[in-house]
Amino acid sequence: MRRCLSLCMCLMLPWTLAQAEGEADTGIYRGSVEQRVDALVAIQPGLGAVMNEMATRFANLYWAANGGNWGLAQYQLKEMREAQEVAEVTRPARAPMLKAWEQSYLEPLAAAIKKKDLSQFNPRFAAAEQGCNACHTALGYGFIRYRVPKQPPASWLNFTLKTSPNYDEKSEVK
Ligand code: HEC
Repeated sequence: MRRCLSLCMCLMLPWTLAQAEGEADTGIYRGSVEQRVDALVAIQPGLGAVMNEMATRFANLYWAANGGNWGLAQYQLKEMREAQEVAEVTRPARAPMLKAWEQSYLEPLAAAIKKKDLSQFNPRFAAAEQGCNACHTALGYGFIRYRVPKQPPASWLNFTLKTSPNYDEKSEVK
């Protein structure tokens, strides 16, 4: 009997939630323009979401360069910059530190990628990694200590395909 009751409640929950939502009469499709904008603002990715993307791409970047897929390394770095731009808009208070980190660490890495120079890339990558963690510590998140995984996270990508960093951003469709 008790089992049946909790099953019934589970089945009713989505219905109850839908009712509550209807009553609020706001959301991205309902309410005044201002309320809809507020709803859109509330669902934008914050720093945590962007950081997860940065963390994945940063590891992919490492494995791509070390596997000789320099085109993929260049692409991952470009995507990291784009992810960072999202955080600069949604969390403007963090923008100056993010920009400083990008200039100090991503730009030297981009230069090493252009030259396909692994002996330059690896120490610069290690410095950038320290920079990530220095920012975590500075902002009170010292418990978030990044380290590159022993395997590339996106195992569906071929990291050892030999390519050159010839990606042209100007060719992107806007
Ligand atoms: C501007 C300072 C700053 C820089 C630079 C920075 N981070 Fe972060 N990172 C943060 C903050 C703040 C958080 C906590 C997120 C939050 O407040 O939601 C975080 C969280 C994280 C998380 C935890 C995400 C989660 O929710 O599980 C990871 C992983 C991470 N960062 C990786 C990185 C990597 C990798 C780099 C460098 C490539 C980096 N971060 C650079 C400030 C920074």
